[in-house]
Amino acid sequence: MSFSVLNPHNIECQTNLTDTIIIGDSVEIAKRLPSNYIQCIVTSPPYFGHRHYAQADYLQSQEIGREQDLLNYIDKLKLLFSELNRVLKDNGTLWLNLGDTYRNGQLLGIPWRVAFALQDCGWILRSEIIWHKPNAMPSSVKNRPTTDHETVFLFSKTSQYYYDADAIREPHVTFSAESKMKGGRNHLGKRNGTPEQGKNKGNNNLHDGRWDQAFHPLGRNKRTVWSIPLGKFRKAHFAVFPSKLVENCILAGSAENDLVLDPFMGSGSTAVVAKQFRRHFIGLELVPEYAQMALERLADINSQQLSLI
Ligand SMILES: C[S@@+](CC[C@H](N)C(=O)[O-])C[C@H]1O[C@@H](n2cnc3c(N)ncnc32)[C@H](O)[C@@H]1O
Repeated sequence: MSFSVLNPHNIECQTNLTDTIIIGDSVEIAKRLPSNYIQCIVTSPPYFGHRHYAQADYLQSQEIGREQDLLNYIDKLKLLFSELNRVLKDNGTLWLNLGDTYRNGQLLGIPWRVAFALQDCGWILRSEIIWHKPNAMPSSVKNRPTTDHETVFLFSKTSQYYYDADAIREPHVTFSAESKMKGGRNHLGKRNGTPEQGKNKGNNNLHDGRWDQAFHPLGRNKRTVWSIPLGKFRKAHFAVFPSKLVENCILAGSAENDLVLDPFMGSGSTAVVAKQFRRHFIGLELVPEYAQMALERLADINSQQLSLI
């Protein structure tokens, strides 16, 4: 597959943009994407003042995260996600991973500043998920706890959005085979063993929420702390999304054959997971070398015909 520099003409002439990586500034590309087009956006923008991605001079002015002023960084993200709000289907969701930064010994609170900015431009903030990283890099700090988490915000465009809770349920802990709580050990996994079906039938205390919490056959509703080790794809020389993190977002936020967008595609983790779960993807990436890396990862999973425009 060969590269060509993004030309807006390419987008408008291309009738089908699915399973495509588009190289360029996501802010500019977003303006040319169709409206009501994407079901689910899963992404991790560069963090403010952290790593530099583009080596080529001509790309550096477009790279997000290099701004000197935090307000400029937030404004640029606001610009992008305002445009992507139009591109997202009305029942779509945005899963936005952000990390924080210290400046002059002070934590800036960037994830929440961005979240407030996105609320200001119409996004509905539905959940704050803590991504706990059990294998986070050790640090030498001695006057505060070592940070081992990042934030993933779940935003929707409207109040009626697609969310498949069953696709990402987690194991019960309140009532398990080992549980000593009254009723748990005796009821679990047995015929007529749940409150509704068994001897507690009719007990108003055991309303739907508690049943769901304790006995739903697929597990309890997903919680807001996700403990997931950092990704292992080292070729990228930067922290890539762990597959499990993307998997949760894609499974809850889309159905098979839906279209998933990552406007900061990097090494292509979102696209790889999308294809593994039979979704389609569009990836936007400023740096051609990373786009190539993503294509190589995608080729490895032997997915459908992929193209780079
Ligand atoms: C944190 S990395 C994403 C890593 C990705 N989640 C993965 O798993 O590989 C952010 C990416 O955004 C890209 N980027 C920075 N500014 C951009 C812009 N204006 N438009 C598109 N991509 C940009 C960087 O080159 C980098 O690859």
